[in-house]
Amino acid sequence: MECGDFSTFYTLMGQLPKVKWFRSDLYNWEGFWHLGHHLPGAMAAKSNFQAKDDDVFLTSSIKTGTTWLKAIIPTIMNPKGRKDDDSDDPLLKHHPNELMPSLELGFYKANPNPDLSHMPSPRLFRTHVPYTSLPESVKTSACKIVYITRDPKDTFVSSWHFLNALIGDRGKDPWPFKDAYESFCNGVHAAGPFHDHVLGYWRESIKRPEKIYFMRYEDMKKDPMGEVKKLACFLGRPFEKEEEVQKVLWRCSLDRLKNLEVNQHGIDPWLGVENKHYFRRGIVGDWKNHFTDEMKGKLDQLTAMKFEGSGLDFGY
Ligand code: A3P
Repeated sequence: MECGDFSTFYTLMGQLPKVKWFRSDLYNWEGFWHLGHHLPGAMAAKSNFQAKDDDVFLTSSIKTGTTWLKAIIPTIMNPKGRKDDDSDDPLLKHHPNELMPSLELGFYKANPNPDLSHMPSPRLFRTHVPYTSLPESVKTSACKIVYITRDPKDTFVSSWHFLNALIGDRGKDPWPFKDAYESFCNGVHAAGPFHDHVLGYWRESIKRPEKIYFMRYEDMKKDPMGEVKKLACFLGRPFEKEEEVQKVLWRCSLDRLKNLEVNQHGIDPWLGVENKHYFRRGIVGDWKNHFTDEMKGKLDQLTAMKFEGSGLDFGY
């Protein structure tokens, strides 16, 4: 179905189950919770977007390390990304969000049928929609999909910090940690239920490894060289020299990106959040600074139950 205006999507949205998620509304579309300002764009993209065979999609639930890959993938795909001269590195002037724009927010939020013909190939997009809600042509064309996920405990902690940063600058109280945690465990979470989001891409990546490359934030932290080499091969841009891998990793490192002027002072035009909030601690196990034993036990148990028999775990 191709739709030329938003009225169909707003009508549909008005009929969906809705819950409060801190200070926002979440709508349940096709089994997943979506923020109201993401949803019409996601629906329009599903109806109208036509993938090309050489497109690259970065997919994820929120706060799983997407920003790292929003920097790495464009750098791998850019013929100059692995060269010595840093002066024309796009990351110097652009937040990673701009180098791999969101399909639903960057294109289909403002216009349900945007003209994408001006975009040079290969086009790079990112999205938080679950596998089931991807535009059909993304699934059926030869375009590539990279998925990144992370230990749900760290994902939750990161999203709690990010949400509070979104409203923190407006001087409001943070979301009580326990309430946010319960909501996450109940699957009520932007792009949630988290585990179902992960499983959708995981199962498809098992069936079609040439189509979907499944990554974990923890693996990237443990062996960034090895992981980025495999990613570059998947993208059809293998590295020739070790120095090239090091160059890409250095350009996209948290320390470097965090300290670049563009990321310290700019504002994300799609969410209105300061660019700096996309870069925080970037460690594995930050949950230890926030969780009680009981919280850890409950979420680990939920994860083990959800992932049972899937072959997927986070190594605990
Ligand atoms: P923390 O909040 O745990 O620090 P996303 O990009 O999906 O929104 O996820 C954000 C998380 O990725 C944050 O985690 C952030 O610090 C981390 N991150 C952002 N850029 C990174 C980079 N270049 N290297 C490693 N981690 C990064």
